Amino acid sequence: MIALLVKWRVPLVILTIAIIITMLSMDTFDPESIKGKRVLITGGSSGIGEAVAYKFCSLGAKVLLTARGEARLQEAVKQCRILGAEAAYYLPLDMAIPNNTRKLVDEAERRFGGIDYLVLNHVIPYKFEFWEGDLEYLDRTMTVNFAAYVALATFATPVLHRSKGRIVVVSSLSGKVPLPRVAAYSASKFAINGFFGALRQENKMKGIDVSVTLCIIGPVATESALTSSAGFVDKRIFFTSSSDTAYKIVEAGNLRWREIHYPKSLTILPVLLRDIAPWFTEWCTSLSRAAKT
Ligand SMILES: NC(=O)c1ccc[n+]([C@@H]2O[C@H](COP(=O)([O-])OP(=O)(O)OC[C@H]3O[C@@H](n4cnc5c(N)ncnc54)[C@H](OP(=O)(O)O)[C@@H]3O)[C@@H](O)[C@H]2O)c1
Repeated sequence: MIALLVKWRVPLVILTIAIIITMLSMDTFDPESIKGKRVLITGGSSGIGEAVAYKFCSLGAKVLLTARGEARLQEAVKQCRILGAEAAYYLPLDMAIPNNTRKLVDEAERRFGGIDYLVLNHVIPYKFEFWEGDLEYLDRTMTVNFAAYVALATFATPVLHRSKGRIVVVSSLSGKVPLPRVAAYSASKFAINGFFGALRQENKMKGIDVSVTLCIIGPVATESALTSSAGFVDKRIFFTSSSDTAYKIVEAGNLRWREIHYPKSLTILPVLLRDIAPWFTEWCTSLSRAAKT
């Protein structure tokens, strides 16, 4: 062991110095800086999107929420105002309809005169099933979960550029590591990671002052995730709450981090092992039940 440490002393010292420099140069989140910021959140009526809206509102932001169902949006906006939002509005829209993405960005401009944060979070209802060839479902998944994100980012970028704004993308571990029973969902999240990872670099190269933060999220105890995975996935792994996840998402966007993995304990290792020991990640996922019980 000692001999190994002596042999690797130079790289170890360099690594330690690099870690210390990185930690010292990291900004810290100033919640005050959220006050008055104009935030557009998709899928803001439930789960993580709703929790992100509450986090922004408790820090005094202005929010515009969207989803399809009006009743839940109304309730969420009511709660946003109670929590201290400077302003809170909603617009019910279906992201499967291409023109609605433009409508949403226009509405944010009309309401707030600009956008500081675009939080892309909506997702079509989860289906935990083996892939049986439902191409129509795949098409809908890619349209809503992926193409709508791209369209929203495209229409919002000139607006965000004026305010040196931020795009915050809620992605998933299944966009880094393919997971069974969610093949279409996993494909849409891989597409998101690829597109927005490239967009971040292109913005920099083109001098567009809009940051892109990818949030690689593990299992979160939202109503829809728990219900749809019941019988397939041990619900004890859903120990992360929407509220804690939302805090991380707001912090990461605020600090313009490239990518976050949350919770680290469940997301970092599978991503690291994906390419060097794929048999291990596949063995882990095979531990989930073979059929719904
Ligand atoms: N929960 C998890 O375990 C987990 C893990 C990793 C990543 N994530 C990611 O976190 C994000 C939120 O997940 P969640 O669990 O909070 O989901 P959720 O509770 O099911 O919320 C989905 C939101 O999207 C809206 N939506 C669905 N279809 C839509 C459509 N066609 N047009 C517009 N809005 C639509 C829903 O409202 P309406 O139905 O009223 O439209 C709802 O507001 C997703 O991007 C997901 O991939 C979640």
